[in-house]
Amino acid sequence: MSAVYDEDVASRSNGALVVNGLVVCDDPQPLTILPITAQDPLMAREEEVADQAPIVAQYNDQIRPLLDAIDRLRLLMVMKEGIQLPTIVVVGDQSSGKSSVLESLAGISLPRSQGICTRVPLIMRLQSHQSPTPELHLEYNGKTVPVEESHITTAINLATDEIAGHGKGISNKPLTLVVKKDGVPDLTMVDLPGITRVPVQGQPENIYEQIRDIIMEYITPEESIILNVLSATVDFSTCESIRMSQKVDKTGERTLAVVTKADRAPEELCEKVTADDVNIGLGYVCVRNRIGDESYEEARREEARLFQTHPHLSRIDKSIVGVPVLAQKLVQIQANIIARCLPVIVKNISEKLNANVSALERMPKALTSVADAMAAFMRIIGAAKESLRKLLLRGEFDEYPDDGSKHGTARLVEMLNQFSDELHESEDNDPTKDFLIEEIKVLEDAKGIGLPNFLPRSAFLRILQRKVDRISSMPIEFAEKVWDCIDGMVTSVLMRHSEIYYQLKVSTKRAAHNLIERMREQSMNRVKEIVQMEKLTDYTCNPDYMVEWTKLMTQQESFVRKVNDAVMYGHSRVSLEGFGDIEVEHLRQHRNVLHQAFDLKMRMTAYWKIVLRRLVDSMALHLQYSVHNLVNNNMEEIVNELMGPDGRGIERMLVESPAIAGKREKLKSSIKLLKESKDVVAKIMDRIAGYDD
Ligand SMILES: *[C@@H]1O[C@H](CO)[C@@H](O)[C@H](O)[C@H]1NC(C)=O
Ligand SMILES: *[C@@H]1O[C@H](CO)[C@@H](O)[C@H](O)[C@H]1NC(C)=O
Repeated sequence: MSAVYDEDVASRSNGALVVNGLVVCDDPQPLTILPITAQDPLMAREEEVADQAPIVAQYNDQIRPLLDAIDRLRLLMVMKEGIQLPTIVVVGDQSSGKSSVLESLAGISLPRSQGICTRVPLIMRLQSHQSPTPELHLEYNGKTVPVEESHITTAINLATDEIAGHGKGISNKPLTLVVKKDGVPDLTMVDLPGITRVPVQGQPENIYEQIRDIIMEYITPEESIILNVLSATVDFSTCESIRMSQKVDKTGERTLAVVTKADRAPEELCEKVTADDVNIGLGYVCVRNRIGDESYEEARREEARLFQTHPHLSRIDKSIVGVPVLAQKLVQIQANIIARCLPVIVKNISEKLNANVSALERMPKALTSVADAMAAFMRIIGAAKESLRKLLLRGEFDEYPDDGSKHGTARLVEMLNQFSDELHESEDNDPTKDFLIEEIKVLEDAKGIGLPNFLPRSAFLRILQRKVDRISSMPIEFAEKVWDCIDGMVTSVLMRHSEIYYQLKVSTKRAAHNLIERMREQSMNRVKEIVQMEKLTDYTCNPDYMVEWTKLMTQQESFVRKVNDAVMYGHSRVSLEGFGDIEVEHLRQHRNVLHQAFDLKMRMTAYWKIVLRRLVDSMALHLQYSVHNLVNNNMEEIVNELMGPDGRGIERMLVESPAIAGKREKLKSSIKLLKESKDVVAKIMDRIAGYDD
């Protein structure tokens, strides 16, 4: 394809393509636009301007396909995927004349009524077309509704009611108005609700905040051009719309100001726009809107005459006055911003598409056959077993580095130590109180016909049984606690591994709980046995017992003597190593059994230490053994329970969790949208490249 460059209009400098003095494209992401042809349609029509159309603005043919591409992306709603489209956003205070400016640009009448005129963002897509008959339609809620120019107000109001409800409420869901008309500039703008401070009848109390939020949502993206409509009659710095745009665009580099009602405050206007107190980076355009029933043509002629002849207004530079100038500026700014954003948009669409495609690939496949489900199930059980081995047996916590409650081996030791401490502290609170009384009573009960220096074994066992009874609930409570902990760990590990299969997760949870309950019951029986065994037999091969007893017994003679002395001399306390100061008054009448009672007490003291240690050891070995069985053998019971006797249970797994299915659907729809968008931009990029060679 041959290209004819008009060097005055388009030229290349420093690798950038410049059209009409505006940089259309910067390297290093070269984007060239269609070259301007010799037969610029606008040139040919220039003389017919006044008669035919409300506005004829300079329009570069090459921008049109780019704008169409952006409009198509907008229609696809690619913005909801986080792709920002270059947008001209029109803002203004309530009486700034915002609607009139838009009417002048579009050459049509827009709704006006008391209160807010625009209650939803109105996307205005102006397109020049050849036919003398204008074509208008509205797009909203997925519908395209053709409208007559004379009924545009009613149609917009009806559509607004459908989007934002009846009454005076507002909404951020946009309505699109497409205006195809001979001579309108090719422009897409978003008109936002006018800023109002005071709610009128029927408006919500927080109308100002609602409008502000919508405006901020639209003007914040860097890709938005802010068209700020200001009335010449006010001090610009007091305008709400200026305050808002300054918040997001401090330097004003993407803000353009339109000053309306130029004829109403002509005296200082020239100074106001020259001084630029409010930082309008893209400059000012002063306009005079249509008044009364003037036709748009009359209004334009009147405007031109005003800025030519008015003593004050004529001083303003001609390059910044009039609606046609505004239209032309907007078209150029739009071309610039589109050309600047398009490469980024192409890149972002690609990146997001790739991210979403790989996210979809990473998602578990939906299971479609019993064989698939079986394989997935076995994988899950295998992985869960491995996790539990790590947590409960090997003490490897790489899967839950920060969740201490899952560090099984460490928790078990911790609980075991605590159990041991509690057992040892459970000794009768004051061993010196009623010293030897229990022993004496038991000895009396065990009295029989025999020699006095044989210690009856039945007496020893009586005391042992009582002591064991007193602590017998502690091993059981401890085991319950350990099983609670194991239950929690097994459940959460299984849940994590079966997360994505909703049905499986539900039934696994139940099966795991049943298994743990079965094991818990077995374990409890075992613990009760361990306790019972201690009551039945007094035995140890541990030499510590004899060592300790012998040591304690060396005090026997001296203790008995001291008790006798104390009784004789009226003392009441005797000190005994290992027990402390002992009240002995109550032993006065039991002096004949003191030797035996003392012996019995010392045997029990030495033996009880052995019993407590043995309890802790047995519990440790038993629980460790149970955990080992659980992880290595009994997990299979979960498999059996889930599959059911006929193996049908596995089919239930084919149902996915709603969250996963939802995410998959969402990814698929994002991917579809991004693919369509990519096609849209790919076509336009191809076309640009095609003209480039
Ligand atoms: C492109 O993506 C970047 C990084 O996510 C983001 O900051 C930028 O706003 C996006 N631009 C457009 C035009 O979507
Ligand atoms: C698609 O990818 C984008 C960008 O990486 C991401 O923000 C978004 O969440 C993804 N969509 C879904 C449905 O995961």
